[in-house]
Amino acid sequence: MPKSANQFLKPLTQKVNSDGNIEIGGCDLVSLAEKFGTPLYVLDEKTIRAICNDYKNAFASYPNTTIMFASKALCTQAVTAVMDSEDVGFDTVSGGEIYTVYKSSVDMKKVLFNGNNKSFDELNLALDLGVGRISVDNFYELALLSTIAQSKNKTVDILLRITPGIECHTHEYIQTGHLDSKFGFDLTQIDDAVDLILGEYTNLKLHGLHAHIGSQIFESAVYIDEIDILCKEIARLDEKFNLKLDEINIGGGLGVKYTSDDTPLSIYDVGKMITDRLNTSVKKYNIAPPALFLEPGRSMISMAGVTLYTVGSSKQVPHGRKYVAVDGGMADNPRPSLYQAKYCAEVANKKDETQNEKVTICGRYCESGDVLIEEIELPSLNEGDILCVYNTGAYNYSMASNYNRVEKPAMVLLNDGEADEIVVRETLEDLIRNDVIPDRLKK
Ligand code: LLP
Repeated sequence: MPKSANQFLKPLTQKVNSDGNIEIGGCDLVSLAEKFGTPLYVLDEKTIRAICNDYKNAFASYPNTTIMFASKALCTQAVTAVMDSEDVGFDTVSGGEIYTVYKSSVDMKKVLFNGNNKSFDELNLALDLGVGRISVDNFYELALLSTIAQSKNKTVDILLRITPGIECHTHEYIQTGHLDSKFGFDLTQIDDAVDLILGEYTNLKLHGLHAHIGSQIFESAVYIDEIDILCKEIARLDEKFNLKLDEINIGGGLGVKYTSDDTPLSIYDVGKMITDRLNTSVKKYNIAPPALFLEPGRSMISMAGVTLYTVGSSKQVPHGRKYVAVDGGMADNPRPSLYQAKYCAEVANKKDETQNEKVTICGRYCESGDVLIEEIELPSLNEGDILCVYNTGAYNYSMASNYNRVEKPAMVLLNDGEADEIVVRETLEDLIRNDVIPDRLKK
């Protein structure tokens, strides 16, 4: 099976140019740092388009497959526009994501709204903007959605989010499909939910079942189990309620290669395994082949992104390690401190030099835990060097904060030697925009 873009650690267009600098998307990273400043989020459009094609080709043999990008991985209007132009749909989890997708002129029928505690306002917005499917997570939401639908005299197209009871071997915080989870209906609760939908909440039209078993997954067996459980449930609900469900959404979760130790699966292998299993389960349970939906986030965007930092101070701890500090850290990439995530990096302006120093790359935030990379071998670093950290496209900008009251970085999208600024760097004024000093405290 061919390799897919998620199996690469670096953007597909990454190379060393004649100046000895690293280049991505035909753009010299050192020049980008000079022009746009650092920290800088950088995205390679070709890699995004390549992975979209990998997904489409890998599932081409199953007639009715839709890929929905999980916007939580990276939600900006330009990224949404690129994905939209590849005919990808969107999984959203908040009013903010729905609004971003809407403002990017996406056909809202291609949008799914997920989440375990959607608010009244968010559900209202989803209905007003014509979101295609709402994946209902719990009994509270069934009642709330039905009431809102009634007030608008609308019928709402829904899925039921279920907890299939599958454990996958990933970090505990990013597992979601095991039994003791805050997400979705337990298998034993589905019948009560269906009873309510068919009897009381008749303005909710149930199309299918949805599950998501976890994130940064390197094993395929979990998807096989998941598909089997979903198909079995569809057959069971048909028998018990004479209910014809024709959609399954198996969530996202495929892994990427943050370091050379990671061995993510090829989308082509996963595509074959999933479609084979689906065909088998359809026969086994004697159901009509359901439309298949996937909602990958990380594996569609992570490797397309790098973050550029400028090296500043450094400290050699006597008889200890050497810390090299960069001008960003846990606020632009909280993943190392939250999940002990590992990253790798190169020096954009020293690609020719051999690696001769073991250092710890730390950030500029006031916390000891603000370490981006523990122990990495790099050419010896000096103030002003440009560090390129790979595989930062997913869950970096989308989880960024203004901790220590630091402005969030800019983001550029690279393609064929062009660099478009798609998120403008925050300013000091942006930081105080929403502050209000009560009159009694004003000077
Ligand atoms: N669908 C649902 C319902 C989800 O909850 C998620 C991720 C996805 C799809 C996309 O999963 P992916 O393909 O990206 O693995 N912040 C964490 C990841 C949290 C994932 C939450 N749900 C991290 O930085 O690792």
